Amino acid sequence: MLNKPKKIALIPGDGIGKEVIPIAFEVVKKATTLELKAQNFALGSERYLQTGELFPEAEKKALQDFDAVFLGALGDPRVKPGILERGILLTLRFEFDQYANLRPLKLYRKDLTPLKNAADIDVMFFRENTEDLYIGAGGVLKKGTADEVALQELVQTRKGVERIIRYAFEWAKSKGRQKVTLIDKCNVLTYAHDLWQRVFWEVASEYSSLEKDHLLVDAAAMKMVLAPESLDVVVTTNMFGDILTDLGAAICGGLGLAASGNINPEGLSMFEPVHGSAPDIAGKNIANPLATVLAGAMMLEHLGDNRGACKIEEAVVWVLEHKKVTPELGGMLSSTEVGEALLAYLEGKV
Ligand code: NAD
Ligand code: IPM
Ligand code: MN
Repeated sequence: MLNKPKKIALIPGDGIGKEVIPIAFEVVKKATTLELKAQNFALGSERYLQTGELFPEAEKKALQDFDAVFLGALGDPRVKPGILERGILLTLRFEFDQYANLRPLKLYRKDLTPLKNAADIDVMFFRENTEDLYIGAGGVLKKGTADEVALQELVQTRKGVERIIRYAFEWAKSKGRQKVTLIDKCNVLTYAHDLWQRVFWEVASEYSSLEKDHLLVDAAAMKMVLAPESLDVVVTTNMFGDILTDLGAAICGGLGLAASGNINPEGLSMFEPVHGSAPDIAGKNIANPLATVLAGAMMLEHLGDNRGACKIEEAVVWVLEHKKVTPELGGMLSSTEVGEALLAYLEGKV
């Protein structure tokens, strides 16, 4: 059925997540011709602190019935690091097998970058999203003693590595991109990243129209600052992708503009900003909602509404051009006022 309503699970989560999700979802609804049916899931620190519940099975099961998840952020200074992040966010990515984390780096206006003489930046990062140091394998011996031993294991599987590399190549081909670059640390991680090397070059040989490149992660970090325009499509590991995409956000105007999609091509995908719950600015109505708004555009594209996605991007470009932005971008508007400016643009009232 063509016009079946799309069911969206809203998980605002913690901190500024609770501020930006309602704003961004209004923008998404205004931009799309799809009928969206939203349901709120109260997961996060408040619930955890009040009831001890993190992510009850019934809610995991209920989510199976949705077309997409729109998430704010998890993490709260009152809760030990890792509990909410692993118990909710990573659980979503892992249990729904959202193996492809798409993180676009796009410089919407030249004046947003802290780099001197930056050329156009338009890079798509494909971060592997279900393996690596993130799986939580490991343990500790003799905790709290002088002989303490801590282990945290880096796990990569042939299937896991192949599917993200293939996904990146397929995307690059379908979008008419030029080059796919693998970023790893194969000179040190001679087991895990040798697997990445072998699989990358094997899959690469099937894509004759695309250029292929390889960078070691340390050099890649340097290159992202000195010549970001030389990158096109990047595929990398979970851990390196996490770090490099915050760096990528910084060169494109900051975390307030960086969006992300956690994709399971056959299942439930989730859209969120790259940033976290930002406790330092939470509750002040000054968080930039544009990262979440752009994640909303990625969600619409995923749901098949390319036109709605383009309209959102246009609206974002317009507020950036007219400096209708939050303080960290040099503007004077609150989060909600940025949302109102986007809605006014979409309604043709400007
Ligand atoms: P953060 O991304 O929350 O904040 C880093 C810095 O960027 C802060 O100074 C913050 O004020 C600023 N910032 C972030 N988003 C912004 C926005 N939209 N507008 C304006 N400024 C913004 O990272 P952190 O401080 O390292 O982590 C805070 C908490 O968030 C931790 O608990 C962490 O685990 C969690 N976290 C969650 C996610 C997620 O849910 N996807 C991502 C990253 C961090
Ligand atoms: C991100 C975050 C998460 C990650 C944390 C909160 C688990 O930093 O989405 O980039 O490391 O993936
Ligand atoms: Mn991160």
